[in-house]
Amino acid sequence: MIEIPHIVAHRGASIEAPENTIAAFRVAGARQAKWIECDVTLSADNQCVLIHDDTLERTTNGTGPIHKQPLSVLRELDAGSWFSDIYKGERIPTLSDTLETLFFMDMGANLEIKPSGCDPVRLCQEVAKELDRAKKLPILLSSFDDSAVAEIRRLLPGMPCGWLLETLPDNWHDGYTQLGASALHIDHKALDAEKAAEIVAANVPLVCYTVNDPARAKELFGWGVTSVITDDPAKMIAAIPRHPNPQGRNK
Ligand code: G3P
Ligand code: MG
Repeated sequence: MIEIPHIVAHRGASIEAPENTIAAFRVAGARQAKWIECDVTLSADNQCVLIHDDTLERTTNGTGPIHKQPLSVLRELDAGSWFSDIYKGERIPTLSDTLETLFFMDMGANLEIKPSGCDPVRLCQEVAKELDRAKKLPILLSSFDDSAVAEIRRLLPGMPCGWLLETLPDNWHDGYTQLGASALHIDHKALDAEKAAEIVAANVPLVCYTVNDPARAKELFGWGVTSVITDDPAKMIAAIPRHPNPQGRNK
């Protein structure tokens, strides 16, 4: 089983730098985060690019759906100014750029597959090709789209995949087993001590998003949660430098 660090930087250190950019990934590394979480989708010409939303407006100076624009257009956009002038000219990264940065920073990633209007099967195929070239990096895939998780499991049978959920279904263990998942990723607001205990008792690594309050993170770790995904890795690592509960560690 892959070792998931107890703190993962959500979209990079997204409280300090524009989300899903190389700058945010570098800041996360500088703050001692071992992993980032990031969102991958496809350009119109089937290149893997990192961006959260379906459309360009919120985090770039472009407009319209991402999957309608080729990489050559996406690469010209400014993905930093919306956050701060300091980051003016920051680009939408490709998955390839990101994997290279992670390699040089000795970091890993939770790569969230977000079809965002593109063909999910093609997205999985392109992600699988990229990951095949980056075999040594610690990568945990995840998606809200169960068909994408199933497709990645088919294309890359050895690749660990997290089952990404907003709420926990009653029969979660059946779904988890059917998908062949290696971890369960859930919105921390949908979790309570009882549900956490059930998941931990089943020896399923439990990852919670998006946790920005260290007191809440400590509570979650106390319940046996393996990892929290946070916008503010600097604050979280300062408050909780190591996993405080042996039960939650997945190694
Ligand atoms: O993967 C955890 C979290 O990132 C899922 O939600 O909307 O931030 O991608 P979102
Ligand atoms: Mg995400």
